[in-house]
Amino acid sequence: MTNQDKILMDKIVQLKQEKSVYIIAHYYQRAEIQDIADFVGDSYAMAVAARNSPLDTILVAGVDFMAESAAILCPGKTVLSPEPMATCPMANSIKADDVLKFKAKYPNSIIVSYVNTPAEIKAVTDICCTSSNAAKILEKLPENARIYFIPDQNLAINVSNKLGRIVNFYDSYCPIHNALTKASMVKLKEQHPEAEVLVHPECKPEVVKLADYVGSTAGIINYISNSDHDSFIIATECGILHPIQQANPDKKLILASEEMICPNMKSITLDKILYSLENLTTIITVPEDIRIPAARALKKMIDYAS
Ligand code: 13P
Ligand code: SF4
Repeated sequence: MTNQDKILMDKIVQLKQEKSVYIIAHYYQRAEIQDIADFVGDSYAMAVAARNSPLDTILVAGVDFMAESAAILCPGKTVLSPEPMATCPMANSIKADDVLKFKAKYPNSIIVSYVNTPAEIKAVTDICCTSSNAAKILEKLPENARIYFIPDQNLAINVSNKLGRIVNFYDSYCPIHNALTKASMVKLKEQHPEAEVLVHPECKPEVVKLADYVGSTAGIINYISNSDHDSFIIATECGILHPIQQANPDKKLILASEEMICPNMKSITLDKILYSLENLTTIITVPEDIRIPAARALKKMIDYAS
């Protein structure tokens, strides 16, 4: 961390107090951003933290669907994004029309959408899920229901394999997690036979099959904190190393690939957060005709997951 970072961090901490802004960050954010946040979590915990925010202004340090989820769940609050162009290519790959066509063909189907979707998709969704609760939610749906899981094919297949349940899915994926190959993981395991292998379910099923533990970012962090092992191969975005190192300074962490960097998550910087606080911008809003049905799908997730 540079001196300039420290100066910016001090200014941010002072300004968020002066302006009563609650900062929520994702584990893929830069270390210095996680350090100035009031709450850091996985995408599920971020949504719940927004809903329970003690303050009326929330700044979301994460990609656009995360700020949108906060705006959907907190209609009376002001939600700020320090970088509204930070987006998720997987979330943007599906259109509401794709969902409506499936629904027209199978009217009794249940649309389960990953939170990595824009508000317009959530609005045509029956229930949302995140990587931390997808299996739990699918288990609660009627056994014979036709499920359309969107938009992450890897998460869909991984959950389907776990539950032994057929799931229809949309063909898309996270470019960061999907790029990780089975061959590179097999090689890493050979190089570090003592290490436990922890994999995010956005990775390919053949990579997930090599894991000792599969879970969301929060799940991976908790697993390491509760494990007696000393070393871990971690297959998810590099930002997760910061909270793990903080909680487990003596454990050896091996990132599965140096290329596991989400450029959108990393496009948020301390400068942009400071600017956002100074100018109380950019305010994220969702039109009521979309927000209301989208909130229904998000709240249903929170009900089913808790
Ligand atoms: P989780 O933090 O819910 O595991 O999500 C990972 C992710 O890719 C968010 O964009
Ligand atoms: Fe989207 Fe993947 Fe980046 Fe998460 S890590 S925001 S899923 S591109």
